[in-house]
Amino acid sequence: MKVKNICCIGAGYVGGPTMAVIAQKCPQIKVTVVDLNENRIAAWNHLDVNKIPIYEPNLSEIVAEARGRNLFFSTEVEKAIEEAEMIFISVNTPTKTYGVGKGMAADLKYIELCARQIARVAKNDKIVVEKSTLPVRTARAIKDILDNNGNGVQFQILSNPEFLAEGTAIQDLISPDRVLIGGDSTSEGQNAIQQLVAIYANWVPNDKILTTNVWSSELSKLTANAFLAQRVSSINAMSELCEKTGADVKEVAKAIGLDSRIGPKFLNASVGFGGSCFQKDILNLVYIAKSYGLNQVAEYWEQVVIMNDHQKHRFSKNIIKTLYDTVSGKKIAFLGWAFKKDTNDTRESAAIYVADDLLCEQAIISVFDPKVGLEQIQFDLNYLETRTESKNIEAVELANNPYEACNNAHAIAVLTEWDEFKTYDWQKIYDSMLKPAFVFDGRNLLEREVLEKIGFVYQAIGS
Ligand code: UDX
Ligand code: UDX
Repeated sequence: MKVKNICCIGAGYVGGPTMAVIAQKCPQIKVTVVDLNENRIAAWNHLDVNKIPIYEPNLSEIVAEARGRNLFFSTEVEKAIEEAEMIFISVNTPTKTYGVGKGMAADLKYIELCARQIARVAKNDKIVVEKSTLPVRTARAIKDILDNNGNGVQFQILSNPEFLAEGTAIQDLISPDRVLIGGDSTSEGQNAIQQLVAIYANWVPNDKILTTNVWSSELSKLTANAFLAQRVSSINAMSELCEKTGADVKEVAKAIGLDSRIGPKFLNASVGFGGSCFQKDILNLVYIAKSYGLNQVAEYWEQVVIMNDHQKHRFSKNIIKTLYDTVSGKKIAFLGWAFKKDTNDTRESAAIYVADDLLCEQAIISVFDPKVGLEQIQFDLNYLETRTESKNIEAVELANNPYEACNNAHAIAVLTEWDEFKTYDWQKIYDSMLKPAFVFDGRNLLEREVLEKIGFVYQAIGS
């Protein structure tokens, strides 16, 4: 069997870009991305490719090239499953908000629904690929459901975790550090692995395609995210110590990063990591460790999340303390709402939690983000259920540009490291603000000397 038809369930941040790149690199394969969310599919099919639902540098160009040729977006889930020889599952696996494992375990209900739907619809043998990040041994559950389909169809389950980072997703997909594929050791399993290897081999060098057993692959994804998040929490822990001792966290990061064993990447102190993966995956790891009675392992990793929460609250507390212990009725400008630059994704963004703390102190917040709109900001705040929706509407506004956001503000909080923030006319911003004018730089992004020369009171994380 040679794969000619791929279906991907879930047209989100992972499914959309991944399938766009597979379609671009494999014009001989028909790729259909399906989703239950009709609006999302309609947006992926928007005539103007700049209106597709996800912003990623170079994504719209790839969609423009492949869409309608061999890349399709559809709500006809069953038809796409039936036609495909290989099915990727890219649905979301949020942290459970109810029952056993609430607040910790991954909610696998969407994964199970997908498995049941595939089992019901499939009429011929299929390879099912787990793309979503899943707890170790989820493949077992999927296999149980699929194998009990009652229509004699054979399934092979592969784990092929995604390592793309938002903002650089296309780059990460086109030249990955590695592609990881886990499968069964049986000859059928090995054959399924080779089918997926053959797809990636269209553009990824063979020595970067790593094959393992399913469980190693599932656990490697959680481990990679845990290690990355741990680096951020480690440098953030040092940032607090730097502020007390007169050390500068940027200098410390540079000094340790030159050690080739440590390396220079992922050492930027910040107001805290966000995004849909880090916290969710670590909590999931903690839950798994606890469920095996490995309490020390669980506590070790949980500390990474505890440190991250501390960093976010520490940032807002410092703003309140510095503004003479009250922000009530004061306008605070937020530069950035996305969880990192070059994305419109706001899931778990530190900005949400900092805003929530300041709103509890009755501040007025004016946000400018190059890619995030007011509806999303209100959604994020309402989701916390700290106050009524009308209170959030009253206290949070979206500015059309940074100058409007900062006009008459007491302070600026930099929450996302968008490059364009560095290019603003900071003198003009200073002139329009109430004095003393404060900048709280949660990303170590701006030039201290330039701002202090203008007259700003400038504070950066870790110095
Ligand atoms: C998700 C998970 O968050 C992540 O853990 C995993 O590694 C990959 O999948 P992401 O693509 O960012 O990441 O999620 P999201 O943007 O929420 O997209 C998931 C899509 O699946 C949504 O569009 C949702 O409508 C769709 N979906 C969900 C279905 O089509 N069917 C379902 O049963 C459930
Ligand atoms: C992450 C992983 O990098 C990726 O491999 C996985 O597939 C999904 O999760 P993502 O969440 O998109 O990707 O972005 P990432 O670049 O890892 O950043 C996560 C958060 O950490 C962001 O809020 C970012 O601002 C923060 N961060 C990152 C820091 O605060 N400091 C750093 O040095 C690096």
